[in-house]
Amino acid sequence: MSNYHIKNLEEYYQVYRKSVRNPELFWEEVAEEHFVWKKRWDRVLDYDFSKPEVKWFEGAQLNITENCIDRHLPSKADKTAIIFEPNNPDEPALHISYSELHERVCKFANVLKSKGIGKGDRVCIYLPMIPELAVALLACARIGAVHSVVFAGFSATALATRINDCEAKMVITADGSFRGNKTIDLKGIVDEALTTCGSVTTVLVAKRIDTEILMEEGRDAWLAPLLETAESDCPAEIMEAEDPLFILYTSGSTGSPKGMLHTTAGYMVYTAYTFKNVFNYKDGDIYWCTADIGWITGHSYIVYGPLANGATTVMFEGVPSYPDYGRFWEVVQKHKITQFYTAPTAIRALAKENLEFVNSYDLSSLKVLGTVGEPINEEAWHWYNDNVGKKKAPIVDTWWQTETGGMMISPIPFATPTKPTYATLPLPGVQLALMDEQGNEVVGNQVDGRLCVKFPWPSMARTIWGNHQRYKDTYFSAFDNAYFTGDGALRDEVGYYRITGRVDDVIIVSGHNLGTAPIEDAINEHPAVAESAIVGVPHDIKGNALYGYVILKETGEGRNHDNLRKEINQIITEHIGPIAKLDIIQFTPGLPKTRSGKIMRRILRKIAHNELDNLGDISTLLNPDIVEAIIRERMTPSVP
Ligand code: WTA
Repeated sequence: MSNYHIKNLEEYYQVYRKSVRNPELFWEEVAEEHFVWKKRWDRVLDYDFSKPEVKWFEGAQLNITENCIDRHLPSKADKTAIIFEPNNPDEPALHISYSELHERVCKFANVLKSKGIGKGDRVCIYLPMIPELAVALLACARIGAVHSVVFAGFSATALATRINDCEAKMVITADGSFRGNKTIDLKGIVDEALTTCGSVTTVLVAKRIDTEILMEEGRDAWLAPLLETAESDCPAEIMEAEDPLFILYTSGSTGSPKGMLHTTAGYMVYTAYTFKNVFNYKDGDIYWCTADIGWITGHSYIVYGPLANGATTVMFEGVPSYPDYGRFWEVVQKHKITQFYTAPTAIRALAKENLEFVNSYDLSSLKVLGTVGEPINEEAWHWYNDNVGKKKAPIVDTWWQTETGGMMISPIPFATPTKPTYATLPLPGVQLALMDEQGNEVVGNQVDGRLCVKFPWPSMARTIWGNHQRYKDTYFSAFDNAYFTGDGALRDEVGYYRITGRVDDVIIVSGHNLGTAPIEDAINEHPAVAESAIVGVPHDIKGNALYGYVILKETGEGRNHDNLRKEINQIITEHIGPIAKLDIIQFTPGLPKTRSGKIMRRILRKIAHNELDNLGDISTLLNPDIVEAIIRERMTPSVP
């Protein structure tokens, strides 16, 4: 493809300028050259950010699975599409060819149909990283059902909230999952969730850990026997360009999780284009992204982006520490991985361990390294560059979001000189702006501001499922005519971007976005808790740890604080999942509040960070005395 494989920085600027001067022509060329369409579009782009409404390739008809699978069959039927690397290294890896993937997806799609699922129906997928997960996504897409994957580390309550929000008719799950040397009872969690979900009529269960589980008559069915008897061909449903492809929930700073809705054509074009360019993907490469498909990274860059390019993509069921901290590198050596994409939190965790874990393996196949999910600190960047890439594999620090669908800021390997902690330059078609708090664009270099995008790109989320007003309020109201990312950024002297972090009440812990409000709501459910507030504090491995300030009711005051801390974390685990547990809990008699009753998180953040010299003006608070009391009782973050 003409716009693919930008070879040097000059060419990047040429391509970028072209993409900005005439975005429609730019994306039309990409769409024309690389994909199969059942019907061509009438119009490349139609948009109005004030509504907001965005339509790409309107009038076009297609099916994304034909582009991800069928299209490759004439030339690549026997090529491996998916390598499944199990949790246990002694279990053999599974190589699924494009023709096998075709058959698996068709059979699965026929099973969905036999259970009454059709175009537009929502299907919730709650599966571990086993092949059925990727196949389930594609099977939904094959028949036009809208998948909504929920990360299989979320609790029953969190799962139920998501199922109810999108009114899923079906849940696809497994009897259980492996995680290092543990097993997790997934089906039990689903059963618990479904006690409060009226919309679900069918549960399909994949067998993974082979344990006794309860099957509810009339609702639950094992997947394997259904697949065995299903027809191995399933015609692809004809989809309109803007038909929904999937919903994926992301945490907001307030309220319930937001079901970001992604649509078909633009998402496909953009994820395929960015995959190929940002990873310098070439035929024969073996690509591995360590994310879980429960997150957007897995959707776009384990499943859709790689498969749309006819690539070989690895699905890893395990964790970086099992059976030891050499697992990632063992897998790189075993499958001769060429592109490796992971999160800074994983790099930091591995960098703490003995270097022998890295040096015992042959990593010479690696050509490009990637990171995503949170800012990468300089130390971790160098460790990755020196020890994993041996200074030969460029690091692509990719900035993007569930909402953006695909990568937005990233170096192009071998073209953009990298700079530690900088995501560098916007990808073609991405028009960024930094805004000041008054809403004016900050121009020039060596400036900072709130990161916005001024022009539509094909894979942007189109709405929040069932709540367009919230979509508008969250992303299009802070600044006129621009999408607001919620992140702060600075632009250096050559125009490189560095993401400085969230400017709202979302805290990124180990690469997972956590809204403060839902965690506080969970804590406040504890009978002894009156009120609470959460802030993030820097943490060596996780990036941020959670520091909670908790006010007890009178009934809680005589109680043992360590027991209360355990109970509070137990409630959080039940409501959200173990990822949201607090590292530090400080009991306090009050919280600093404005006269209108708003909690002053800025002050709480500074106290947690031990920045006591510049707390700012506290005299206007409703209760200035409380600040002294909180400082006196401050807990030192001594988290593991
Ligand atoms: C943060 C993940 C710095 C950012 C694809 C963003 C990053 C949020 C980077 C989205 C990066 C992601 N450098 N920060 N390279 N990548 N972020 O929705 O704050 O899980 O808004 O999408 O992660 O997280 P999400």
